[in-house]
Amino acid sequence: MTKRKIIIDTDPGQDDAVAILLALASPELELLGVTCVAGNVPLELTAKNARIVCELAGRPETRVFAGCDRPMARKLVTAEHVHGKTGLDGITLPDPIMPLETQHAVDFLIETLRREPAGSVTLCPIAPLTNIATAIQRAPDIVPRIAEIVLMGGGCFEGGNITPAAEFNIYVDPEAAKIVFDAGVKLTVMPLDVTHKALTNRARVEAFRNAGRVGPAVASWTDFFERFDKEKYGSEGAPLHDPCTVAYLLRPELFSGRFINVEIETGSDLTLGMTVADWWRVSRRAPNANFIGDVDAEGYFELLTERLARL
Ligand code: BDR
Ligand code: CA
Repeated sequence: MTKRKIIIDTDPGQDDAVAILLALASPELELLGVTCVAGNVPLELTAKNARIVCELAGRPETRVFAGCDRPMARKLVTAEHVHGKTGLDGITLPDPIMPLETQHAVDFLIETLRREPAGSVTLCPIAPLTNIATAIQRAPDIVPRIAEIVLMGGGCFEGGNITPAAEFNIYVDPEAAKIVFDAGVKLTVMPLDVTHKALTNRARVEAFRNAGRVGPAVASWTDFFERFDKEKYGSEGAPLHDPCTVAYLLRPELFSGRFINVEIETGSDLTLGMTVADWWRVSRRAPNANFIGDVDAEGYFELLTERLARL
């Protein structure tokens, strides 16, 4: 089987952690590296958490890189109110022993995309887009070499989750998001419209808890962020955002969307970081994104549980 080469760009984050575990559990994917960025918590913690997750998976050989410690043009906004002080609150796991790579994540992204055959590496950003945009800005020659970007971010009918208009990943670094959305790369977007349909519930969390060695940790993470999200959304469970990207690579038929134009708001204080998604195709702006709107949630959670149990 030819494995699909991917790089996960991340700010773990409990849902990021599940996305990393899903990739590590999937033989169809070759995880070339995990690039960390400041987001849910500061960079030092995201780079630590990514390694905790790789060790939990029994994969300490995974290459983990630290990247940008702040957005391109703004002060960092974090989300400890959702993810806890460590970013990975839930179960207490040991500090990582595996080393952090010394190369900067942006240099790793550029070097890898230049080295690997053109069109063979897919990027999965599940965090503010600072690392990816910095790489594109510094080395525009990498753009046509990227197979596809499958990212979690934005919202259309669902509005925002950090402001009424903006989703967290895009809001934290809108200038970076604009660079990525304008790059002309094949782009698939998992916005809140789809992730808010990928909700945990008791049965799904209990299935996680019983999913092999990593199951109890995964259930403890979902238990942790559920508390906040259930209150916020008044729903039975919480959205498991970031693994949608990796699940899409494994089982695209679980998802459906539309190829539309999406622009990023970088000017307005009121709607900063909004993904202005032309779902009804009322503008004449050229489509630039496969904007996902729906998921077979049962199939998604079954896939996650089945894969996590393999670790
Ligand atoms: C996104 O923001 C982060 O808090 C999550 O990890 C996810 O990437 C959801 O808006
Ligand atoms: Ca994330």
